[in-house]
Amino acid sequence: MRIGILNSGGDCPGLNAVIHGAVSTAANLGWEVIGFLEGFEGLLKDGDEGHMVLDPNRTIGIMKLGGTILGTTNKGNFVAKIGENGVSQVPQVTVDQAKANLKRLGIEALIVVGGDGSLTTALQLQDQGINIIGVPKTIDNDLAATAMTFGFDSAYSAVVDALDRLHTTAESHKRVMVLEVMGRHAGWIALYGGMAGGADAILLPEIPFRMEHLARFIKERESANRRSSLVVVAEGAHWETGELVAKEDRGTKGQVLLGGIGDRVAKVIQELTGKETRACTLGHLQRGGTPTALDRILGLRFGVKAVELIQTKEYGHMVSYQQYHVGSVPIIEAVAKLRTVDPKGEMVKTARAVGICFGDC
Ligand code: F6P
Repeated sequence: MRIGILNSGGDCPGLNAVIHGAVSTAANLGWEVIGFLEGFEGLLKDGDEGHMVLDPNRTIGIMKLGGTILGTTNKGNFVAKIGENGVSQVPQVTVDQAKANLKRLGIEALIVVGGDGSLTTALQLQDQGINIIGVPKTIDNDLAATAMTFGFDSAYSAVVDALDRLHTTAESHKRVMVLEVMGRHAGWIALYGGMAGGADAILLPEIPFRMEHLARFIKERESANRRSSLVVVAEGAHWETGELVAKEDRGTKGQVLLGGIGDRVAKVIQELTGKETRACTLGHLQRGGTPTALDRILGLRFGVKAVELIQTKEYGHMVSYQQYHVGSVPIIEAVAKLRTVDPKGEMVKTARAVGICFGDC
């Protein structure tokens, strides 16, 4: 038996743990594993340049490494979903080429480690007769049908670290510091990172904000003799008008590259409050680097489970984490809708209870 594995979309701490978990489990069963390079693109390459043979000798020790030994891309020939609703069909000629290569290599099933977009592609390949097992991956933690994805813990830990650092300089200078973090549709990184890192205000894509409310809150803090204020803003957060701040529109090649909301918010805070304000964008620092212990364990468990799902031929299913247990769900359940922060949910209520402002009142 020969199986394939690829990761697709943005990289994510814990990807190498998934690869190691899958390769070790397959080796115990006497199976061979082929790792495809640069996401789905590796499926299109003739000869040997699109893949590498993986065995435990190759994957021992990779668990502690960030990124992915297979390389990845969030662009290219297999993009099937742009944004939340922009679903398109992967061209038939591309699917046929991938199928022919999988047949040439004798691969019976393919593990696809990806987020919403990559799993949408995976589902289309499954519908075209390729045996797929999905593994959920995203630092944004916005996939439905799984309570958590690996990578999220590492990402929001980076936010906490950044806030700890910003706090000392903000206190010294009596400043407002605005930290822009990732999270295009869902504000989980901003919410968890902000709460754990002691942010005073958190702006999320799920809760439209008004600068007047935020400015009033900051002025009230000043009146209460607070030396500084920390504001965390998710890249996908927006005013009540719904306008997103973007750096680049990649057209049909990929998602709009968000970025810049932190600078905008900082500028208006300074104008409205008269308080010296600085902005900082955490960017890919929250996606790179060493995975946390939790992400290594979660990745490992997901990789092992993916191979078990091939054993039981549960194709079209995705590994899923629910109530401390790793199980599986149909991929369609994971990509049908995004898991976003509930503005009336327990986490937001808890944050409000400890005085965190969301800019909506
Ligand atoms: O989806 C994961 C993510 O990290 C988003 O939070 C962010 O908007 C996007 O990827 C950034 O993509 P890129 O690596 O192409 O800049």
